[in-house]
Formats: sequence, structure tokens, C-alpha cells
Amino acid sequence: MALWDGRFEGGPAAEMQAYSESLGVDLRMFEEDILGSQAHARMLASVGLVSGLERDQLLAGLEAVRDELRAGTYRPGIELEDVHMAVETRLIELVGPVGGKLHTARSRNDQVATDVRLWLKGRISELDLAQSGLVEALLDRIESDGRTLIPGFTHLQRGQPIWLGHHLLAYAWMVRRDRERLRDALVRVDRSPLGAGAMAGTPHPIDRARSAELMGFSGLVDNAMDAVAARDHVQEVAAACAIAMTHLSRMAEELVLWSTPEFGLVRMGEAWSTGSSIMPQKRNPDAAELVRGKAGRVYGDLTALLTMVKGLPLAYNRDLQEDREALFDAVHTTLASTRVMAGMWRDLSVRDVYTQRLQGDFLLATELADYLVGQGLPFRDAHHVSGSLVKWCEDRGGNFSLLTLEVLRQHSPLFTEEVFGWLDPASAAERRTSHGGTAWCEVERQVALLRG
Ligand code: ARG
Repeated sequence: MALWDGRFEGGPAAEMQAYSESLGVDLRMFEEDILGSQAHARMLASVGLVSGLERDQLLAGLEAVRDELRAGTYRPGIELEDVHMAVETRLIELVGPVGGKLHTARSRNDQVATDVRLWLKGRISELDLAQSGLVEALLDRIESDGRTLIPGFTHLQRGQPIWLGHHLLAYAWMVRRDRERLRDALVRVDRSPLGAGAMAGTPHPIDRARSAELMGFSGLVDNAMDAVAARDHVQEVAAACAIAMTHLSRMAEELVLWSTPEFGLVRMGEAWSTGSSIMPQKRNPDAAELVRGKAGRVYGDLTALLTMVKGLPLAYNRDLQEDREALFDAVHTTLASTRVMAGMWRDLSVRDVYTQRLQGDFLLATELADYLVGQGLPFRDAHHVSGSLVKWCEDRGGNFSLLTLEVLRQHSPLFTEEVFGWLDPASAAERRTSHGGTAWCEVERQVALLRG
């Protein structure tokens, strides 16, 4: 029996029922749905719309439905369409006609909006925890291996020598901002739409602030039509997830690169790797590759959410039912990927492969130029001298290790013996003490900031 039986003579086609049900997706919000209904029942009693006895019957019934859903002993069929009808139908079965009073002064339109906001609040706090775990994993890795020399790249070409810690800090800051973005979104999520009704409000003397408070919301969505029609908070969270996935995907890509013999910088933990069914030597960075791949899915979710809403007239339209599949996927994927990424950083090992490789490397060319700047030469001229030294070495099939003081002085009389101290990659990194530079003291300062 559908809730609109009074108006309809026949039921929906079986295909329509299967096509339009959302139970398969929104049953995941049954805890939120029941929490919202309990708050609504208490509020109805507080303004005299149901009696104290009726309230208690409703509350006890809702608890029973929740227990059955938790235990899996109540399995609503798709003819009930969605979680709201599933809960209400079972409630009426359990407590009788008084169960029908629960829907006073509310609609599924404000109910679904309420459930999603409650669900989001819970997931945002889980994401926050996972993201802070990832930042911690990065900081721990910096503390154990951060003082490993690596090339800093631009265009994936060697640029300047840096500490690994400097590189990983860039990611730690990105994840810190991902957390901030979600906390910021939470401010807009954390408002109760309940009591908006279908879109026009209700003639009953309800107390929306009371139900909001009972559900733990910080405030109300002020306009009833906005309350049921808006999905920008859903899009905002999905956008924050998409951006977070971009960061995870960049880390994943670097882990994939770094774990190749060509880079050889890291060895992935076994727990996050797989072997090959044919090539016995393989240790593939599958977890990282999956994170990179799943980022694409989350972008798809965001695109779906933006596109789904853009042409909708106010207020509720059934199109909006499609929002949960995309939202749930975006949030679950981001949550799992964040946790997996933290696990990867914790379990890998770092090898010092670059201290040798970078001796005399052309990535020290900026050092030569900076040395000459210290001797009073304008940077543009110093850049030219250094460039011609690169060419001189290259023409002879070697690197800066070929340079003698005599050769250096042929290119600029400003060179002295002292310059050889500048041609050491580790000291080159350590000289960069400017705010945010790669010098270890700066790495330590930022680690402390991020831990604080
Ligand atoms: N199943 C619907 C959804 O998830 C609930 C709201 C239905 N409202 C309506 N007017 N048909 O969006």
C-alpha cells in the first residue's frame, strides 16, 4: 500500500518500482533517519501536537525499528521506495495508527534533506580524523627519513637539491588545507532543514529550533524552500573530496615513480603491494595506482552532482534522489583512499640513493650562479656564466666534477677555491634557510607548526 493510496487507484508498474526505489542506497542512512524522527516526535510533543504518551509510543517504536534494522531482522522490500517509508511503515506495524502522527508537519523532502546533512556531519568528522592521521604519517616519515637528499624537480627534470622532508611537507600542507576545506563546509552543512515541510512550511505551531537542537545542529536553514531544494552543501563536500583526491593522486603518482628501480628512492611495504601472476620479480604499487585511479571516479561524482542540479526548478524534484549515490561514493572513496595513503607512508622504506648520484650533477648550476651573485655579479650574468660551465662540462661528456679552479676562472675571475664548498648538494640544500626553504631548520619549524 503506497502512502498516496487515497489519490491513486492502481499501483506503480513493477518496472517503475524497481527504477524509482532508492532503498538500496539510502538505507545506509537509517540511523540518521531514525534520529531525525525521534527529534521530530519530541518536538511535536513539546508543542502539544502529540501527547506525552503518544511521544513515548513513537520513541519506543522508533527504537524497535532501529534495533531490527541493526540486527538485519527487518529487511524492507523495494515497494517501500526509500528509507523514510521503510521506517515509517514498520513503525506503524509495530505501534499502530499513532505511528501515522509522526509525519505531522514534515515531508519526505525535508526528511531526506535532514538525513543527508546528519550523515554528512558524521562522515566529515571521520574524514577529519583520517586526514589528520595522514598528516601525522607524513610528519613521522619526515622525522625518520626527511633528511635524505633528493633532487627537487621541475618538468620532472632535476632542478635543485632538497631534503625529502621539504618535499613531503608540501603534501602535509595540502592535506592540512583539505581538512580546513571540509571543516569550512561543515559550517554550511550543520543547519537543520527539518520542519520545512514540502517547501512552504506548515500551519502547525512547530518549534524548528527545538528539533534542530535535539539533533545536534548548530542552526536552521532559514527558508523552507531553500531547505528542501538546495544541494550546494552536497556539491561543496564532493568538491572538497575531489580536491583531496587530487592531492592523494599526486602522492600516489610519486610513490609509483619513486618505487621504480629508475628512481629507487622508496621500497613500498608488502602490505600495500602485490605480486604478478606471471613475473615472479614483481612488487607492484597497486594501492597507489588504485588511489590514482579512484580520483577519477570522485571527479565523476562531483560532475554528476553539479549537472544533476543545474537545470532544476525549485523546489524538490525527484532528480535529487540521485545525489546520494554520487555523494556516498565520493565520501567513501576519499575516506578509504586517505587511510590507505597513510598506511603506505607508514610502511614504506626510504633509501639514500641520491647522495652519490647528485655529486657534481648539473642541478648544482644554481649554486654556481648564486656564488657569483655573492661576489657581486648581477644574477643574469651569473646565470650566463654558470650555463656556459654546464655546456663546457657537457661537451666533454662529464658533469661539474670535471671543473678545476683554472677552468672556473677562465669563465669568471670571481671564482675562488671557496666555490667548491658550494658544489656539495647537501650544503646547497642547507643554505636555503629563507622562510619556507628546504634547509633542515625550516623543515623542523614546519613540522612543529603542523604538529601544533
Ligand atoms: N526518495 C526520495 C529522495 O530520496 C525522498 C523524497 C521524495 N519526495 C517526493 N516528493 N517524492 O529524494
